[in-house]
Amino acid sequence: MTGNSATPNIPTVLVLGSTGQVGGLIVKDFEAAQGRVNLRVTSRRQAEVDKLRAEGKDAVFLDLDNPRSFGTALHGVDRLILINSYSVEMLVHSKTLVDAAKKAGVQHIVHLGTYGEWDTTDPHFAWHQLVERYIEASGISWTHLHPNMFMENLVTFMAPRNGVVTSYWGDARMGWIALSDVAAVAATVLSEGPIKHHGKDYWLSTDVLTADQTAAVLSQVTGTSIKAEKKLPADFATLIDSGQVPMEKWYAAGAVEFMHQVHDGRMGYIGTTRNDLPYVTGKNPTSLEQWARNNLSRLQDCLNA
Ligand SMILES: NC(=O)c1ccc[n+]([C@@H]2O[C@H](COP(=O)([O-])OP(=O)(O)OC[C@H]3O[C@@H](n4cnc5c(N)ncnc54)[C@H](OP(=O)(O)O)[C@@H]3O)[C@@H](O)[C@H]2O)c1
Repeated sequence: MTGNSATPNIPTVLVLGSTGQVGGLIVKDFEAAQGRVNLRVTSRRQAEVDKLRAEGKDAVFLDLDNPRSFGTALHGVDRLILINSYSVEMLVHSKTLVDAAKKAGVQHIVHLGTYGEWDTTDPHFAWHQLVERYIEASGISWTHLHPNMFMENLVTFMAPRNGVVTSYWGDARMGWIALSDVAAVAATVLSEGPIKHHGKDYWLSTDVLTADQTAAVLSQVTGTSIKAEKKLPADFATLIDSGQVPMEKWYAAGAVEFMHQVHDGRMGYIGTTRNDLPYVTGKNPTSLEQWARNNLSRLQDCLNA
């Protein structure tokens, strides 16, 4: 059973991963301008579903490890965004969910992927591409989002500590995107639907900086001296092995390979801009400096930790 009755004549949109970084911001975007869609949120934790329902939300139990939860969660859904966790399980999760979406009559799938060229050999980028091809083969209308490195990584695994911000790709340039911009594109595509957005790839890499330039921006905005520590991919592998940054082992291996290919130039395109945000939303992108201003208290918490 789903939580609420839907308003007729507007699409029902299911946001997977709505308790996560990107999904949470998409939900906020829809809640800030209500009436565009019937919003359905999901969790794999029943207590969270109960809490969201008590807040009046159309919340459903959906566990990607449990395909038996898919039928009721997808009933009546017109469009959905597929957000995977940081795990090789994204392959099975996506395959089974797309099959179920087909059975449930879902008309449009938006996929949160990565900023990869078509012939990438990086494992986790390749998994996302396999998911994209599977969605296309399903016959359901599709839109693929290709964000580059999330600026929010600068308050998670790359957070500045003790006056140092660490990169693991040496001096290579990195392309960044603010998650509010990813969410704005996703919410617009899900609202406007497949007639406008079917068959489109949207690329989101809006600010390019070296490690030194990133440190300079963070220093300027926080008013604290922050230096760039330019480590190498092998250092990231050591960090993962230490257990300080918990990450599923296959995804972590993909992340290390990504850093090798950015560092040695095979994925030099990661250090480029490609910005479809204004075409989809009419908005200008958030620079790293603006993002840092918007997230100043989070950055200060990291510096003071
Ligand atoms: N970080 C980057 O720079 C970057 C760049 C480009 C693309 N990406 C892609 O972004 C995606 C991750 O997005 P994110 O950062 O928003 O993820 P996130 O914050 O880790 O959130 C993941 C969400 O998925 C849910 N989830 C996990 N396992 C589930 C399961 N078995 N069943 C149902 N829901 C499940 C989580 O729910 P719970 O609350 O229950 O855990 C959470 O809501 C990945 O596919 C990654 O490849 C990341």
